[in-house]
Amino acid sequence: MPLRRALLALPALLALGGPLGAESYPTRPIALVVPFAAGGPTDTVSRLVAEAMGRDLGQTIVVENVGGAGGTLGAQRVAQAKPDGYILLLHHIGMATTPSLYRKLAYDPVGGFEPIGLVTEVPMTLVARKDFPANTLAEAVAVIKRDADKLNYGNAGIGAASHLCGLLLMQSVDTAMTTVPFRGTGPAMQELLAGRIDLMCDQTTNTTEQINGGTVKAFAVTTPERVAALPKLATSKEGGLPGFEVTVWHGLYAPKGTPPEIVARLSKALQTALADPKLIARFAELGTAPVPAAQATPAAHRAFWQADIAKWRPIIQAAGQYAD
Ligand code: MLT
Repeated sequence: MPLRRALLALPALLALGGPLGAESYPTRPIALVVPFAAGGPTDTVSRLVAEAMGRDLGQTIVVENVGGAGGTLGAQRVAQAKPDGYILLLHHIGMATTPSLYRKLAYDPVGGFEPIGLVTEVPMTLVARKDFPANTLAEAVAVIKRDADKLNYGNAGIGAASHLCGLLLMQSVDTAMTTVPFRGTGPAMQELLAGRIDLMCDQTTNTTEQINGGTVKAFAVTTPERVAALPKLATSKEGGLPGFEVTVWHGLYAPKGTPPEIVARLSKALQTALADPKLIARFAELGTAPVPAAQATPAAHRAFWQADIAKWRPIIQAAGQYAD
């Protein structure tokens, strides 16, 4: 196209999101911040999603682990980044509990983000070191009540799923244990395997292979129904603790102010990724499944997230437990 015609066409191209706008996005690799350590459940889900989304977008999505402070350090990194579509966050239920749990944050835990779509909802499991002296949930509860002052419970910091699940467990059995925080349950699992911590409540995406491989003991899955990848593992209700139920939803975010065309493109790529047969099969092996496509949208994600913030606020306020 001659230069003069090209210059005249420029405003129209920009308005359409043409070669210089969202249509050509992305033109370089995208960073995906995981707010927990490598090798853990959020990391595992994120790497599978990043690979499949990257194929649809025609660009590499590079996972960056920014763990610590229950996921708030990684979230802060994204909330304060340039909203140009080249940095994203994959975070979980902590996005709903952080606004109530953390009263002093250096970023806006709600207004700092554009939701792109929900990703998955993962069951949790109560697991212990291999030589823990119990074989059923009832026996484990008896040991917890008897030896609470000697037992260490591992988690990924305040607001992490493993923290919330542990609180629920300790409330359900009316007994407190010493908690040991890590940058994620990836490193916490290594400590459990080495027998240096005793118990942990963690997502199936981090425990299924260890449970099926016999390297940890498992006492319950925290969902109303058993999980196909762990058919022998009883539910908490079957094991005698009906209130001990929790699942962990995950969502994808961009910094606030990311252009809507880019958010829409990312949401489309997320939907394509979640329909990928290889991703679905791997999720199933890890005891989870992608959300339906209708939930992998900004509107469905925003509505779900806001409802979950409202659900957790009174629970956290009543417990009077804050991160500061
Ligand atoms: C992780 O990826 O380490 C976990 O999601 C941590 C947690 O929330 O328990």
